[in-house]
Amino acid sequence: MRVLVTGGAGFIGSHVVEALLALGHDVVVLDDLSHGTRELVPPSLPFIQADVVDWTRWIRDIGPVDVVIHLAAQVSVVAAEGDPMSDVRTNVEGTVSVLQAARALGAREVRFASSAAVYGDNPRVPLAEDDTCAPLSYYGLDKWVGEQYVQFEARRGGPQGVILRLANVYGPRQRTAGEGGVVAAFAEALARGESPVIHGDGHQSRDFVAVWDVARAFTHRLGDPEAQGVYNIGTETATTIHELWRLMARVAGADSDDVRYGPARPGDIRHSRLQIARARQWGFEPRVPLEEGLLKTYQDFVRRVRASS
Ligand SMILES: NC(=O)c1ccc[n+]([C@@H]2O[C@H](COP(=O)([O-])OP(=O)(O)OC[C@H]3O[C@@H](n4cnc5c(N)ncnc54)[C@H](O)[C@@H]3O)[C@@H](O)[C@H]2O)c1
Repeated sequence: MRVLVTGGAGFIGSHVVEALLALGHDVVVLDDLSHGTRELVPPSLPFIQADVVDWTRWIRDIGPVDVVIHLAAQVSVVAAEGDPMSDVRTNVEGTVSVLQAARALGAREVRFASSAAVYGDNPRVPLAEDDTCAPLSYYGLDKWVGEQYVQFEARRGGPQGVILRLANVYGPRQRTAGEGGVVAAFAEALARGESPVIHGDGHQSRDFVAVWDVARAFTHRLGDPEAQGVYNIGTETATTIHELWRLMARVAGADSDDVRYGPARPGDIRHSRLQIARARQWGFEPRVPLEEGLLKTYQDFVRRVRASS
């Protein structure tokens, strides 16, 4: 299949591109490189540097595609709090633009990267797809609005919409600024021999899912006419930030007492864990154990820190 990946030069996108190529698909990448890196995209692939919002310009360079995987986004919860209009532009207008482009390019499916942030601080754990969404952050709200557009277009005869609500994704190539960046922040501090900061009391918990599992979800049964609507993608396992830090210090051979505390972040959710029964029925199962994923992530940061010094 011919697949357009928006945000393909970013953290998750570059892993999705690798997974698509391994399955033998033809891939086109679009990214404005605002946060992505050109070097993460294989030089042999067609690459369009453009803002997703300018779809009437960039579709001329693409040609027909079967599927669009839409990952391009402003991913910082904190940045969205400081500049909600800019978040609306990239994450809402950008998604509407990609849906228009997908229709014009003849795509039969749009696969959209949403987030557990759409649930807000819903106290039910684990959260299922039909639980109430009440986002607490502009970022979560804009992802939720994006989901509505994806489903709206599908109802109106546009490409079928498959929405993946991602838990906290971690892995090699992650930046420390994005959503779920705590693993990256810990890995970077450990690789530099510095003590990291835990925001809040450390008892908040998250469902950490490895980027290789997420890439498998994005490439799972592409174009499957049975697939539609929302799928939670996580591990169904909660890990507190304290536990995460202890695990990471252990894989790095560091002292877990060497940590500092800072204020909680605005819009941060207390506990987040996703139920993945629907994804399981669809045939998706996370495979990467947390400790193994953390070790590979730490090793990647050690390489990056060495390369930059
Ligand atoms: N990392 C997580 O834990 C997580 C969790 C839930 C959802 N997501 C979603 O997954 C997707 C990928 O996130 P990521 O963690 O890989 O972040 P990332 O910042 O590494 O990737 C996003 C990519 O989009 C590009 N981009 C940003 N604005 C753009 C624009 N206007 N036009 C074109 N390209 C643009 C960036 O340059 C970057 O390469 C995002 O939609 C994000 O909201 C991530």
